[in-house]
Amino acid sequence: MSAKRKRDGGCRRILAAVESTEAKLERNGTTTFVMSLVFPAICLLFVPFLLYRRPTMELLQTLRVSTGIGSNGVEPSRDRLLGGLLSPEFDESSCLSRFQSALYRKGSHHLPSQHLVEKLRRYEALHKKCGPGTALYNKSIEQLKSNQSTGTMECNYLVWIPHYGIGNRVMSIVSGFLYALLNDKVLLVHVPDDMDDLLCEPFPGTTWAVPKDFPVKDFHKFDRDAPMRYGALLRDKVISNDMRSATNAALPAYVYLHLPWYNSEWDRLFYCGEAQQMVRRIPWLFFRTDEYFAPLLFLVDEYSEELQRLFPEKTTVFHHLVRYLFHPSNTVWGHVMRYYHAYLARADEIVGIQVRIFPLVPIPFETMLNQIMNCALNERILPRPLEFEEKPQSAPPRNGLKVKAVLVTNLNGSYHDRLRDMYYEYPLEARDEVVAVYQPSHEQAQHTDERGHNVKALAEMVLLSFSDVLVTTAKSTFGYVAQGLGGLRPWILLRKPEDGEPACVRAASTEACLHEPPKYDCKTGKRGVDMSAAVPFLRRCEDVADGLKLFD
Ligand SMILES: *[C@@H]1O[C@H](CO)[C@@H](O)[C@H](O)[C@H]1NC(C)=O
Ligand SMILES: *[C@@H]1O[C@H](CO)[C@@H](O)[C@H](O)[C@H]1NC(C)=O
Ligand SMILES: *[C@@H]1O[C@H](CO)[C@@H](O)[C@H](O)[C@H]1NC(C)=O
Repeated sequence: MSAKRKRDGGCRRILAAVESTEAKLERNGTTTFVMSLVFPAICLLFVPFLLYRRPTMELLQTLRVSTGIGSNGVEPSRDRLLGGLLSPEFDESSCLSRFQSALYRKGSHHLPSQHLVEKLRRYEALHKKCGPGTALYNKSIEQLKSNQSTGTMECNYLVWIPHYGIGNRVMSIVSGFLYALLNDKVLLVHVPDDMDDLLCEPFPGTTWAVPKDFPVKDFHKFDRDAPMRYGALLRDKVISNDMRSATNAALPAYVYLHLPWYNSEWDRLFYCGEAQQMVRRIPWLFFRTDEYFAPLLFLVDEYSEELQRLFPEKTTVFHHLVRYLFHPSNTVWGHVMRYYHAYLARADEIVGIQVRIFPLVPIPFETMLNQIMNCALNERILPRPLEFEEKPQSAPPRNGLKVKAVLVTNLNGSYHDRLRDMYYEYPLEARDEVVAVYQPSHEQAQHTDERGHNVKALAEMVLLSFSDVLVTTAKSTFGYVAQGLGGLRPWILLRKPEDGEPACVRAASTEACLHEPPKYDCKTGKRGVDMSAAVPFLRRCEDVADGLKLFD
């Protein structure tokens, strides 16, 4: 249906462009008779092309150039900046994905608030002023080296340390960036070799990468046993969250915030309002986590008004910030574009199916395959193959077959093989549809510390974000990144559904889930509290019973 609308719109636009060209020619006094025959003829030549191809980049660009408007009726300059989310200061060629991604994504209907747009521009100015190599940065580095605090400086930093796979890394960077925005900190990321040339710089005219000559080298030592671990300092009463006793002289120049799942109650006090006020006064903060902790910042009274202005729709936090920060490098974008144009561009609909089997929760192959098919058939995502059909096949409908391209991502190629065979061997209930099944890679196992693996993983997340319909696996951060980038509400394959439970449920929003929230209520001091019951804007996640998710 929508493809048809697009096609008609496309031809109308070409004709409209023809008319305006003709008008110009007329003004020039040139004869228009030949032209008025030639242009509709060109348009007719386009028809088969338009009928069988999803609009490609080139075509969309042609249409935009000829009509001056983008595909959503938004003027192109605004559209490519995602409603002001992206800075216009960037040079396009250094990072093609930044301005081109929007042309391929279908799910994004959310505009950022004006306040968020302004906040991001102010953040970019701060980062440029304080980024590596600047005089203010050098001054702060001296302070870090001396290990003596003189209180906060003009520039104060939050340094990100990678933890686990690329999905988890995206979760923690997005959360850290939101914290930095709220506290006027500058976010620096330690880019390990396995992330080299994976992402573009998100802030114009500066860098977010920790430079090679940074005084701290052993980032892996920032872990459970780090001497400057905030939770341990608190436990040992070296520092206190009580502001009355904290003079600048008593504060360290830096602390390490240990926030992965294997932390302690002391570390988790960081999320409380009192701690936020104290920690902010430490000029250098290092942090490690595998979690999307943004929802917890909404529980801090001090931030609630500002967060409300930044995100009037709370369920768009992840969507806006992930699209703002993550732009695959030209290398990764090359993978994405080659694959898209080779296999997906001509399809009428793209169905992304992301399958992740966690080693600690093994699910037998046949069980998972059945669950995927149950979800796809019950929710009418894919047509039903008629396995025992003996009737002769009728001829394909005259107006052509609708092609559904299924993009499977999994470490093992077997799901792809079985789905492909099924749709090859059996006729389909929907006679006017065919299903093509593709899988870009099957790496067998996750190798987070290998760059080549991360390039493919990121490329697949981006390809999934181009889906019309997305199916993801419960508790997978890989799926969250795809849904966030694409602005998609995925169907989530539930973990081991019981008899009678559905195979999958539709996510309420594009938000990511915080898997293991603290069960401590900072305000009452009570333990074992379910925060999803405590405030209206937090609920349990569809895919993780104990998880927390922002909700409108
Ligand atoms: C900051 O220090 C580096 C050397 O560590 C130096 O190359 C650079 O010029 C300094 N920047 C400024 C603005 O002083
Ligand atoms: C920094 O100072 C603290 C005490 O304030 C000390 O425990 C820590 O070991 C020092 N770190 C370095 C790298 O010197
Ligand atoms: C992929 O899945 C199939 C089916 O369960 C299994 O036989 C095969 O060993 C798996 N391959 C790997 C590398 O895990």
